[in-house]
Amino acid sequence: MLTRRDYLINSVLLGATCSLPSGLLHAFERNNLISRAIPKTGEKLPIVGLGSSATFRRVAQSSDVSALSRVLQTLLDNGGKVFDTAPSYGASEEVAGQLIRDAGKTKDIFWATKVNVAPRGGGRVDVNKARAQLARSFEYIGKDPIDLVQVHNLAGLAVQMPIIQELKESGRIRYIGTTVTQTSRYPDLEEAMRKYPIDFIGVDYAVDNRVAAESVLPLAKELGIATLIYVPFGRSRLFSRVKGAEIPEWAQEIGIDSWAKFFLKYVAAHAAVTCITPATSKPHNMLDNMGAAYGELPDSAMRKRMEQFIDALPGA
Ligand SMILES: NC(=O)c1ccc[n+]([C@@H]2O[C@H](COP(=O)([O-])OP(=O)(O)OC[C@H]3O[C@@H](n4cnc5c(N)ncnc54)[C@H](OP(=O)(O)O)[C@@H]3O)[C@@H](O)[C@H]2O)c1
Repeated sequence: MLTRRDYLINSVLLGATCSLPSGLLHAFERNNLISRAIPKTGEKLPIVGLGSSATFRRVAQSSDVSALSRVLQTLLDNGGKVFDTAPSYGASEEVAGQLIRDAGKTKDIFWATKVNVAPRGGGRVDVNKARAQLARSFEYIGKDPIDLVQVHNLAGLAVQMPIIQELKESGRIRYIGTTVTQTSRYPDLEEAMRKYPIDFIGVDYAVDNRVAAESVLPLAKELGIATLIYVPFGRSRLFSRVKGAEIPEWAQEIGIDSWAKFFLKYVAAHAAVTCITPATSKPHNMLDNMGAAYGELPDSAMRKRMEQFIDALPGA
């Protein structure tokens, strides 16, 4: 009998580029996918998705975007659904929208995009510019309603939030929210969570960056707000820190066979986490990341051990 590990290895050997055969194992995999419900509706999302800044963005701006097509296909073939993007991620939204449309898979993606036209140094937010930016997102993504639109980095909330609230009321956006990835701005995020009727937040959280677990994530749980988790690898920071280290045996015992799975399963085990969206430009890394959405998650004792392990490494 093929194990999940055999299946993943075979997929890598095949390049994970073609549509995977819908055999028994595939069905077996899907049945074991870890998902979390969006608190406001109960709609379930796979616990791992895909982000599109960083390397994804770099490739999206290049002349050869074929790797991104394979990344998106690998996400979908392995039960993933959530794709986080933003108008400010260069060509990511436009390129991904086109690739997914070409593959005829637009409806299979849970599209999470953002809005932000606030001037960098502050100042008046132009309502017409915000509406025009949203109109471009509808055009690039090709889905109406868009699943989720968040006000990027809490910018110009007083102006931009009512615009997406109105679009939600008119049925053109299914869920709304706001994002931030600076600890110093968590108090503003918490204020927004209490003030606006939002469905989602996007926030940074990782095994070596745990501040969100102190009050943002508990508040999300209390208020019934779904969470997209950003920067789960600290970009390249966590991979640099574990360079040369072996994955501990106690982690391997729950099927953790890569550092990416170690980092993602740590985050996934937090009860307030709805979906983690690591970015990648490589199909084999997408497959690795999706692997974290299957099998066991660490319990609280193992999570503590994971924190201690990472904290003891140089570069803290
Ligand atoms: N304020 C906001 O709204 C906000 C802020 C930050 C992030 N975000 C969202 O969250 C997403 C994730 O954050 P992020 O992109 O900043 O950082 P991240 O996901 O922590 O790290 C991305 C980096 O990890 C590498 N990587 C991915 N999978 C890997 C694997 N299995 N093994 C080894 N390396 C791997 C990628 O390179 P390869 O291409 O080589 O795989 C890339 O360099 C963003 O893309 C964006 O969608 C939102």
